[in-house]
Amino acid sequence: MNYNQNKTNIADLRISYTKAKLNIEETDSCPIKQFEKWLDEAIEAKTIEATAMSLATVNESGQPSVRTVLLKDFNSEGFTFFTNYESRKASEIDSNQNVGICFFWKELERQVIITGSASKISKEASEKYFKSRPIGHQISAWVSTQSSKIPNREWMVTREKELINKFSDGAVPCPEFWGGFQVLPREIEFWQGRKNRFHDRIIYRLEKTNWLRSRLSP
Ligand SMILES: Cc1cc2nc3c(=O)[nH]c(=O)nc-3n(C[C@H](O)[C@H](O)[C@H](O)COP(=O)(O)O)c2cc1C
Repeated sequence: MNYNQNKTNIADLRISYTKAKLNIEETDSCPIKQFEKWLDEAIEAKTIEATAMSLATVNESGQPSVRTVLLKDFNSEGFTFFTNYESRKASEIDSNQNVGICFFWKELERQVIITGSASKISKEASEKYFKSRPIGHQISAWVSTQSSKIPNREWMVTREKELINKFSDGAVPCPEFWGGFQVLPREIEFWQGRKNRFHDRIIYRLEKTNWLRSRLSP
């Protein structure tokens, strides 16, 4: 069966990327600073969920899986996101720290790909961020047995009510099974879409303690 019987032919859907260019000389010698510049521009451009990133992990059989998470912090130590430590992604990271991250800022015709290794952040740092979350999100972290099968939506609603009652007297504590991962980058690639698929790709690779920059063919 073909998708496009009476609809738009998706094979004909394409746009030309013309918004900007990326020269190696104009990039910052530090990829974290370059990332900060692009993230700032994505936020300024009012990109929806500018901090949303695809996170790829690999299971013990070598099967990759991918999902979206939100970037909550970054610096030279790495890129931090928060999740359930019993989720599929977390158990995959437990057995294989190698992960991939991809940001796609459509409005700017830009992509950033990060390759690195993920590890848990400290309990204190997770608790600090957990405290800053809206209470509804804090309760959700307790309710969700992320990635496990559940009977139906009502099961969650009932659990939510029980937990709201349980924590009605004070602050909601950060669950033991919830916290952050920090991805320490080994490679960071900046991709700028160009006309006729002549895209610009600048990759930074960590050699010992130095970031080396090169241009890749599109
Ligand atoms: C825009 C967006 C943001 C998301 N942010 C997070 C997040 O920060 N942390 C998280 O655990 N899941 C987040 N999710 C849900 C994940 O994509 C995913 O469904 C969930 O983490 C379970 O993944 P897993 O079963 O592969 O572990 C987000 C989903 C979307 C679409």
